[in-house]
Amino acid sequence: MRMRHKKYLEQRLEACDSVNLGWLADYAAEKRGEFQKRTLDVKEIFGNENPVHLEVGCGKGAFAVEIAKRNPEINYIAVEMARNVIVSAMELTIKENVPNLKFLMGKAEYLEKFFPENSVERIYLNFSCPYPKESYKKHRLTHKVFLDIYKKILIPGGEIHQKTDNRKFFEFSIESLSENGFILRNISLDLHNSDFEGNIVTEYEKRFSDMGMPIYRLEAVNLLK
Ligand SMILES: C[S@@+](CC[C@H](N)C(=O)[O-])C[C@H]1O[C@@H](n2cnc3c(N)ncnc32)[C@H](O)[C@@H]1O
Repeated sequence: MRMRHKKYLEQRLEACDSVNLGWLADYAAEKRGEFQKRTLDVKEIFGNENPVHLEVGCGKGAFAVEIAKRNPEINYIAVEMARNVIVSAMELTIKENVPNLKFLMGKAEYLEKFFPENSVERIYLNFSCPYPKESYKKHRLTHKVFLDIYKKILIPGGEIHQKTDNRKFFEFSIESLSENGFILRNISLDLHNSDFEGNIVTEYEKRFSDMGMPIYRLEAVNLLK
């Protein structure tokens, strides 16, 4: 049964070749201790020199598809480690015919192996897993481990835009970003009751706000390059 499931997923992924940039990492090679680096040629991929924005942990892709449609002059790459989830995002992109959006499968940990230094203008972190346990905090996408990676690939003045429903994770992020060379701005403790315009509601955002939970949002600028 599981095999059939897997085969079906492979078929769905194959049908998304036109928007799928492949794996962020060859995990088997990594395990063998082999060095791997595959720099993405974004100009060739999109056929232009437009700025590049990433979404890390894009889930089923509603946000990525909508923001790419609203901003055709930006190239978007969405990253997601769960293949059975990212496949829905790719299918939606094909259905909606969004030429400026592509996908990378895999973990954010590997971003710096694929993006040249100073090549990304903005990173979106929407409702990233909060990993509440102290022992898991290194997995939080705003931990120093990840900020060091983002700083390498972001241009000077590049930005991180974060949204979350989790207050403790938000506080952790504010502290971590401030301690690691980012300047914070436009902090909102209740996005849906603020004057922020043009918000694109993600799948998780809808779920949490329907439950009456406030949505936290911030922008962090990488000034200390
Ligand atoms: C809570 S979901 C949010 C999905 C979507 N952004 C939204 O707002 O609806 C978080 C997603 O991030 C992905 N994720 C978590 N850690 C990741 C990592 N290190 N690299 C890539 N994706 C990751 C998970 O697989 C999951 O799909």
